[in-house]
Amino acid sequence: MCGIVGYIGKRDALPILINGLKRLEYRGYDSSGVVVLDEKTNVYVKRAVGKVAELEKSINGSDWLRPGLGIAHTRWATHGEPSERNAHPHADTDNNFWVVHNGIIENYKELKDELISEGVDFRSDTDTEVLAHLIAKYYNGQPSSPGRFFDAVKKTLQRVRGTYGIAVVSKFEPDKIIAARNSSPLLIGIGDGEHMVASDASAIIHLTKSVIYLDDHEIAEIRRDGFRIETLDGNSTTRKPSLLEWDAAKIEKLGHDHFMHKEIFEIPEVIENSIRGRLILDEGRAKLGGIEDAKDTLRKIERIIIAGCGTANVAGRVTEYMLEEYAGIPTEVDAASEFRYRKPVFTKNNLLLAISQSGETADTLAAIKEAKEKGISTMGIVNAVGSSIARDTDFGIYNHAGPEISVASTKAFVSQLVVAALFTIFMGRQREMSLTMGKRIGEQLKELPNLVKKVLAQENIIIEIAKKYKDMPAILTLGRKYNAPLATEAAIKFREICYVPAIDLPAGEMKHGTIALIDEKFPSLVIAPQDSVYEKIQSNIEQISARRGPIIAITTEGNEEIKKFAQDVIYIPKTLEMLTPILAVVPIYLLTYHIARLKGHEIDKPRNLAKSVTVE
Ligand code: F6R
Repeated sequence: MCGIVGYIGKRDALPILINGLKRLEYRGYDSSGVVVLDEKTNVYVKRAVGKVAELEKSINGSDWLRPGLGIAHTRWATHGEPSERNAHPHADTDNNFWVVHNGIIENYKELKDELISEGVDFRSDTDTEVLAHLIAKYYNGQPSSPGRFFDAVKKTLQRVRGTYGIAVVSKFEPDKIIAARNSSPLLIGIGDGEHMVASDASAIIHLTKSVIYLDDHEIAEIRRDGFRIETLDGNSTTRKPSLLEWDAAKIEKLGHDHFMHKEIFEIPEVIENSIRGRLILDEGRAKLGGIEDAKDTLRKIERIIIAGCGTANVAGRVTEYMLEEYAGIPTEVDAASEFRYRKPVFTKNNLLLAISQSGETADTLAAIKEAKEKGISTMGIVNAVGSSIARDTDFGIYNHAGPEISVASTKAFVSQLVVAALFTIFMGRQREMSLTMGKRIGEQLKELPNLVKKVLAQENIIIEIAKKYKDMPAILTLGRKYNAPLATEAAIKFREICYVPAIDLPAGEMKHGTIALIDEKFPSLVIAPQDSVYEKIQSNIEQISARRGPIIAITTEGNEEIKKFAQDVIYIPKTLEMLTPILAVVPIYLLTYHIARLKGHEIDKPRNLAKSVTVE
């Protein structure tokens, strides 16, 4: 996710800001930038793609002054590819106001159109740039007063819909930073004759332990010697400073011991981010910016081939079920590594849909290349904006899951499923899906963050189950229909982080050989929500139980009967059948995480694995 750090005080701001950016690197980013201002209204700005070290390199040797005011940013692209022109800070036309921003401005298009009609030229593809131009507009429209800059930022934010943590500096008032937040964390660091602002305490914990966390809809004016906070509707607020008790490593993970754990707990927020601004509920439609221009091509698609690797491939298999059932489009899924070497037969109006978190997986890239060679349309569902897959496909949808640091994919998988559901609504409504069904899926999607929270609340029950099974020699994972792919996802995680051999099967396949393995030492994880195939999977459960195989079952709340056969039961709330994998995967992630943890494994970086597999 993006990171913000700002400094005002008696010391040189620049080295403090660069150090702060380095401390934010763990969050993941693709570019960075910094601006410092002196009292003579000189402005020094640098931006760079890649590591903060690149930014630092570009600064060394330049003729920098050493003022005590500046803001800096690490960017994770959401609007516009990672590039110097899209990196923050962004300024108004006359370079009088400089903004760094975390979050997404949902109504940036209409604000941008308004500004363009007033003659403003945009220099980046970002949503953030509208803030700088609006601040300049409102500053110029106000009479001179001590609070003019502060009021211009406030007025700007009153026009904005979306999420933000921002820090702004101005040539006209080079004695302050204006900071504000809505759903994107921001805190003020209190020092002696100096203050800081940061999106994350790890950026400033070496400078101070005394901080004030801004609340939503609050705006602060931060000076060398003090600060004031107001709500956006003009009420001043006071707050006692909090004391940072964690060390930097713990803060990076926001109190979680591992990134994997943090990312699992981010799932409710990730779902919100993936659907934000994309559902038009009363029309039962999904509005997906990245594919709106390809509407006509997509209307004609008669067959979809999905390619992805590992967990992304699993997401593809769930997507297949969704697209076939609700959009009526014949769909098949390939391991990207197979697609590139077999001889796929294409018919008229085919689409290759590549799914990838990193957007850099070599096999998936090769599948796209192969499809292009054959003249097939290509589309991506990608998390990393501006990545190779995002650039190489004809069109696509971004996940907005934020950077995933843990090697094992969790929150990105969930966002892939959410985007798949949105895409299903999009494609379905172009075909036979009714308004009512479009609405229904949309409404259920909106419910999901709260339902996931209910599953996360069962962590203690899951820890107890993890304790019981941590020394198991191997495990069988089973699911059916929408949850058959989840059996594979569970097995990937058992192998990847627990180092437990796991065999995954669509449950109906069990009787064709694998049942021979079942005995009292060989447990099974059965994903069995009460859906259209529940009775079928119940018979698998009974067959395992008859052979004294221990069973961990994931089922729907209220299913007490299952306890007759399963020793351990984890409940998920009821939702639409096609969305059950989004809920059922959460206990799978918690269970595998806790088993790996009890075994003392290095969870975020499992042995022999890399986050992004850029070789064949
Ligand atoms: C498993 C996992 C991998 C990735 C796979 C594809 O937890 O993370 O299986 O899903 O390497 O990576 P992306 O999605 O970046 O193409």
